[in-house]
Amino acid sequence: MSGLTAYLAAEGFEADLRAELGSLAGEYGRLLLADGPFRPAAWAQNVWLDPVRLEVASIGEAARALKAMQRNWWPYQFHLHRRTALLVDKLPKVSARPLVFGQPAPTAPLGSFAWLDEHTLLAAPTCSSPFPNGEAAFVEDREAPPNRAYLKLWEALTLAGRMPEPGQTCLDLGASPGGWTWVLAGTGARVISVDKAPLAPAIAALPNVECRQGSAFGLEPAEIGPVDWLCSDVICYPERLWRLVERWRQSGLARNFICTLKFQGDTDHATARLFASVPGSRLLHLAHNKHELTWMLLG
Ligand SMILES: C[S@@+](CC[C@H](N)C(=O)[O-])C[C@H]1O[C@@H](n2cnc3c(N)ncnc32)[C@H](O)[C@@H]1O
Repeated sequence: MSGLTAYLAAEGFEADLRAELGSLAGEYGRLLLADGPFRPAAWAQNVWLDPVRLEVASIGEAARALKAMQRNWWPYQFHLHRRTALLVDKLPKVSARPLVFGQPAPTAPLGSFAWLDEHTLLAAPTCSSPFPNGEAAFVEDREAPPNRAYLKLWEALTLAGRMPEPGQTCLDLGASPGGWTWVLAGTGARVISVDKAPLAPAIAALPNVECRQGSAFGLEPAEIGPVDWLCSDVICYPERLWRLVERWRQSGLARNFICTLKFQGDTDHATARLFASVPGSRLLHLAHNKHELTWMLLG
């Protein structure tokens, strides 16, 4: 299967991935095959690099073929569930324990395979995501954060491999009720939180959090000054977020960006492409994103 790449769509976003990839060479459940080498594809939760097609007579032969390629494998199953389970049983156990936030993303290579039919496997020893099928899982905190939005920022920072630090400044736009502010404040950095709505009282009371009630779009970068992290989870059209990000980039006052593009109704692929075209940036669908994409630019 040389010259092919397999893209695993985020669940429910197969149509968006199809729109992004254009013509396909095959489709198996959420796994879309396209000709050519790896291309960044925001709606793919995992990308299988250089997948190979293996014709095997038995499950034992399939296990031997996979183990000959490398140790760690994770299945994607869209059918043949029993056959998948039998093969997994014959492979070395792969621990997929949820991460405690702050731990680095796994570094061991994790391959992916799927049964295309009873005797054909598609297998890729190298994938773009360090997580099984691209699904980052964390040991959750069900007490302190006011909502579950904090999981998006945990995932983004883990993938970034970099955290805010004490002495740094974070600007959190669209901060209410305060999940992201809680994450940022927990790093020891100073946080300026901006929203039209108030923060949850326990978050607003954190000693390193400064609240500004008002619109994120009315802020002039010069009025805030230099920030190490500009985070935005504001509900707005992606085009409006683009203009805000452009203003901050042109000001030179923000070093790292983590922003959520939120789509209402149809996906705005044109604006998503604008974000993706910023050199050095990444646009991706996190496991914790809904009809959203996360854009990161690390300075
Ligand atoms: C998804 S919520 C953010 C959740 C937040 N990141 C958290 O972790 O708790 C989106 C927020 O955008 C805010 N928002 C909408 N328009 C805004 C604007 N013009 N300026 C600032 N915030 C805005 C809403 O008030 C809402 O609190």
